[in-house]
Amino acid sequence: MSIDATPSCILVTGGTGFIGSHTVVVLLEQGHEVVIVDDLSNSSEKVLDRIDQIVGEEAAERLTFVRADVADREALDAIFDEFDIDAVIHFAGYKAVGESVQKPIEYYSNNIGNTLVLVDAMRDHGCKSIIFSSSATVYGDPDELPLTESSPKKPATNPYGWTKWMIEEILGSLVVADPEWNVVLLRYFNPIGAHPSGLMGEDPKGIPNNLLPYVAQVAVGRRDAVHVFGNDYDTPDGTGVRDYIHVMDLAEGHAAALSWMMGRNGCEVFNLGTGNGTSVLQIIEAFSTACGHDLPYVIEPRRAGDVTANWADCTKAREQLGWKAKFNIADMCRDSWNWQSHNPNGYEA
Ligand code: UFG
Repeated sequence: MSIDATPSCILVTGGTGFIGSHTVVVLLEQGHEVVIVDDLSNSSEKVLDRIDQIVGEEAAERLTFVRADVADREALDAIFDEFDIDAVIHFAGYKAVGESVQKPIEYYSNNIGNTLVLVDAMRDHGCKSIIFSSSATVYGDPDELPLTESSPKKPATNPYGWTKWMIEEILGSLVVADPEWNVVLLRYFNPIGAHPSGLMGEDPKGIPNNLLPYVAQVAVGRRDAVHVFGNDYDTPDGTGVRDYIHVMDLAEGHAAALSWMMGRNGCEVFNLGTGNGTSVLQIIEAFSTACGHDLPYVIEPRRAGDVTANWADCTKAREQLGWKAKFNIADMCRDSWNWQSHNPNGYEA
């Protein structure tokens, strides 16, 4: 264990989810105290045992779990009364792009509503430091690659994307109104991979929407073939290109942002990616190597709302946060396969 930051008490909303749980592990390993607030609506309580196993008994004692909706103001007040929270990392939110098109009211009210309740509670308790899980989706279909933090925000193509877009604006407005606020917007590219122990990973409910969990379920025999959404894009092999980033690198990025923001004020944006673009077919090939057998795939029409390609310029995070992604695609597929093959049904027995 390395303690490379002044230990603080961090409230993590959505801390049992995919990115949240990996970030909690890193925070505990760095010596922080962590309070998770999560209603388990899209995650499993078993994650908590896995976190304990990974970090060990001493660090696990610094973790508290509160089962509550982030929109539950009384629950938040009780947390802020009991703990001296230094900063909040806000992951909690609905995240399925397709579902958001079908359920705009639920997406807007949950994602935006819970954020407003959270920041109102934070203000009332004098805690004004927040890191928000934003997304490269705010860049829309880019005119130029790689994407830097000053690349323009483009209209979102679905309600999920708009919630990320608007929450960025809402948090930015807080800083304008009250310069004591300290906001960091982290724009994630495509998080994949799993904890190298194989104890934690991505566990989507139902049919996965995202490429990697789908590929992993094909590899383990839960699904027949990968559906490749379009092979007529203007990319080297015709399939969509994304900047996939290992979830542990992403988790480290949060820890780096946390140490950086302490004692500061204002609103800063950072891209968290690797700077490299990988196509769908390259992912299938890399995963085939990781799992040791070829994965069947079929070419399908393009998926509505998908962009051709995006990848990040991560210079700002490297220069200011001192953070850089360490893992490559082979590492990401290896760890994802390690998790999936040891937990074919995710956290369910
Ligand atoms: N894809 C397939 N088959 C699948 C799933 C995806 O071919 O079964 C392709 C997509 O067309 C795309 C690539 O794989 O080219 C990646 O798709 P994902 O669904 O894994 O990820 P997206 O890039 O669409 O979306 C991700 C996050 C969003 C976020 C967005 C920001 O899931 O939350 O990145 O760029 F908004």
